[in-house]
Amino acid sequence: MRPDISLAAVLVIIVFLMPLEGYVVRGGDALKLGKEKVTHLHFFLHDSVTGKNPTAVQVASPNVTSFPFSFGSVLVIDDVLTEGVERSSRLVGNVQGIYAFTGLDKYSLIMAVDFAFTTGKYNGSSFSVMSRNPISEPRRELAVVGGRGKFQLARGFAHLTTRFLQFPDAIIEYNVTLFHY
Ligand SMILES: *[C@@H]1O[C@H](CO)[C@@H](O)[C@H](O)[C@H]1NC(C)=O
Ligand SMILES: *[C@@H]1O[C@H](CO)[C@@H](O)[C@H](O)[C@H]1NC(C)=O
Ligand SMILES: *[C@@H]1O[C@H](CO)[C@@H](O)[C@H](O)[C@H]1NC(C)=O
Repeated sequence: MRPDISLAAVLVIIVFLMPLEGYVVRGGDALKLGKEKVTHLHFFLHDSVTGKNPTAVQVASPNVTSFPFSFGSVLVIDDVLTEGVERSSRLVGNVQGIYAFTGLDKYSLIMAVDFAFTTGKYNGSSFSVMSRNPISEPRRELAVVGGRGKFQLARGFAHLTTRFLQFPDAIIEYNVTLFHY
């Protein structure tokens, strides 16, 4: 019995290792990275929870009111990105995703969102943010963790400041620095 069991174990290990190795080899062939580029982006995000055409909707909240700072509320967004601070200025894209109020001691979010562009040379490309956003601070920094299209393998950071606030509606200025290929 014993030799059979260890033979089975060896076979299981081989079966698990083989596809992994193949994947690495194929991945190495396919990924021909060019020179790393640095791109700076500047735009305004319009987060509109109230009004006739909201772009953010609350989908969950705690069933008790004892938590401060909206703690536990979750929103889904499809917010507009514009070139200038005015909502009527040129549309450059949209940001889709979710954010949750995660601060027990101040207003703070965790954002899992994808910024996609619909004009110019980055039309069809997007970058992804997965980061903490302490919205009560005047200047914040978010981590950029990936991207699509022209922003493949992007990483970087975004600097934010709130330019207009009528809680919960807000206009946020973004300066983004992306390292990508
Ligand atoms: C909140 O939900 C929990 C779990 O379902 C329940 O035990 C509790 O009674 C609820 N609290 C209120 C205030 O409804
Ligand atoms: C952006 O790309 C889409 C899909 O390829 C295309 O339909 C659209 O016309 C493009 N927009 C601009 C402004 O280039
Ligand atoms: C973005 O960069 C511009 C130009 O350097 C600067 O005037 C503005 O204050 C910056 N905004 C943020 C939120 O970093």
